[in-house]
Amino acid sequence: MKHLLSVDDLDGADRIDEVMRLTDAFVEVSARTIPRVPALRGKTVAWLFYEDSTRTRLSFETAAKRLSADTMNFSVSTSSVKKGESLRDTALTVEAMGVDAIVVRHGSAGAPHRIAQWVGATVINAGDGWHEHPTQALLDTYTIRDKLGGLAGRHIAIIGDIKHSRVARSDVLAFTAMGAEVTLVAPPTLLPPSLEGWPVRVSHNLDAVLPTVDVAYLLRMQRERMTEALLPSLREYTACYGLTTRRVDLMDDKAIVMHPGPMNRGVEISAEVADLPRSVIVDQVRNGVAVRMAVLYLLLGAGTDLVAPDQEPDRS
Ligand code: NCD
Repeated sequence: MKHLLSVDDLDGADRIDEVMRLTDAFVEVSARTIPRVPALRGKTVAWLFYEDSTRTRLSFETAAKRLSADTMNFSVSTSSVKKGESLRDTALTVEAMGVDAIVVRHGSAGAPHRIAQWVGATVINAGDGWHEHPTQALLDTYTIRDKLGGLAGRHIAIIGDIKHSRVARSDVLAFTAMGAEVTLVAPPTLLPPSLEGWPVRVSHNLDAVLPTVDVAYLLRMQRERMTEALLPSLREYTACYGLTTRRVDLMDDKAIVMHPGPMNRGVEISAEVADLPRSVIVDQVRNGVAVRMAVLYLLLGAGTDLVAPDQEPDRS
């Protein structure tokens, strides 16, 4: 595997399991006093982020540093992109600096795939339009495995703005590959126009679904991607689909609540629910670093010792 553009590149449960096992090793590394291993020493990882990001960017950067890779930060807002440079020219310029991997986030579906055709470096999709966000799906899979012991036979409800969500697409692929059952819960206007080929059930009744779930996975209302009025009002959305404490009481005691962030507290999730012990949102962020270490290692680290401690003095 050279690139990670879609969850499908992992080719099913065996490969996803391999990432999960590598992640276990990197969780152990992350807990050390000096959380750094030399696995990617001499490799350079660059970021090409055309869209805003907090978690994804910070965790990829932390992951690369913990693997001793050099990192190259490319900020679109202060670059020649502002002068009209094309995606292709920008990607070729970044590659000419001698990078081994380019981590791309872009507002258009397929942009990382195009870059992978133009450059020789490894390309990792960190979110492309409404399309996919494979490393988010891997960290979500890892978090569920960690909290519930596995995904096989589990029932996961993905609730909210599915239509505009790259997270939902990647999560459906990963969760079902691992043997979970997925129900999408949303008003009809926030579902994709066609769900043909999606191995999921659909419901418009959150209260009916909640008692049956092991995981309630909430999505942000992606207002920046909405070009038309898809909802009468946010208040109405919250009344029908917001996860409130009353609704959490419908869930099994052991069921967990997840969210990829950024949360809109008071819209898709109430402030109190976000802070409940069963809400594992901060664990998702924490696992994101180890999962991205696993992905970078899998793509760039062939032949190096996985978790040997760093013998050189800490340079950070
Ligand atoms: C998501 C994204 O940007 O795709 N956030 C993330 O990466 N954790 C979801 C979102 O923006 O709502």
